[in-house]
Amino acid sequence: MVPVFSKVAVIGLGTMGAGIVEVFAKADFPVYAVDGSTELAERGRGFVTKSLERAVSKGKLSEADRDATLERITFTAELSDLADADLVIEAVPERMEIKHSIFTALDDIVRPDAILASNTSSLSLTEVAAGTRHPERVVGMHFFNPAPVLQLVEVITTVLLADDVADAIRDLALKLGKKPVVVGDRAGFVANALLIPYLARAIALYQTGKVSRVDLDNACKVGIGLPMGPLTLSDLVGLDVVHEVCEVMYAATKRASDASPSLLRQLVLAKRLGRKTGQGFYDYS
Ligand code: CAA
Repeated sequence: MVPVFSKVAVIGLGTMGAGIVEVFAKADFPVYAVDGSTELAERGRGFVTKSLERAVSKGKLSEADRDATLERITFTAELSDLADADLVIEAVPERMEIKHSIFTALDDIVRPDAILASNTSSLSLTEVAAGTRHPERVVGMHFFNPAPVLQLVEVITTVLLADDVADAIRDLALKLGKKPVVVGDRAGFVANALLIPYLARAIALYQTGKVSRVDLDNACKVGIGLPMGPLTLSDLVGLDVVHEVCEVMYAATKRASDASPSLLRQLVLAKRLGRKTGQGFYDYS
């Protein structure tokens, strides 16, 4: 049966999860926005509200539409609220044990025909799916940061996925105004398999001390025509995320150039994770 998506849930309200909630709510979907505690759910409400406020202040969204968008979102800390969800998108940190615990819990909560999607940026979706009771309904729906702005959605398939699911998710992404591409499960899928080694090389180059951060970023912006330089982009993505994807890429390719550079590791250990913590390669405070 072709899945129909009326009620959507997003689990994990960090940068990506909050952005994904906003995308669905703006497209008229009722959304459950879930995080691990009331405080985290409220922090997620803050992220979404701030982003909508910004659109209002730029004259791109009316106050009435901001209010209507927020009314479509139910912020909660209770996974058990998701019993009637048709699609659940997981956007929790990139650690397999956390993904497994969420998907195992969902097995007991959602209907057997509900679709479970992961926003994982690099972990094996096949491993996530194989740990569930219904691996045929586990698909990747990978958004890009900032999710409300960037149009790409990677729809990730596995050998276990039921036939109609990828098409249904691709159609849904189109309905959200996104441009989906369908990719089989592999380390980094398409975009990160190309982007993350580039970011790692840029960080390794900066680490040599032969170029300043601003000159390095400008070389890529002005010379290659990219919207932002690699150090600024790493700060946007989150240095923990860049590091985690490097680890997955390196484990898959064993190429030294894919390994996480020591400076990146040190910044992650120092909890300088980029924009979200106020400091990374640049200072945002
Ligand atoms: N949320 C919502 N809207 C945002 C936003 C955010 N976090 N950041 C920027 N915007 C909006 C702005 O409001 C603005 O909208 P309008 O033009 O309609 O006014 C628009 O985006 C452009 O923003 P700015 O004018 O402030 O700045 P900009 O022109 O430099 O664009 C950018 C900012 C969209 C982030 C652009 O620099 C860009 O595309 N950068 C590259 C981002 C990228 O490559 N992301 C992918 C990262 S990889 C990833 O996410 C995958 C993974 O798994 C790791």
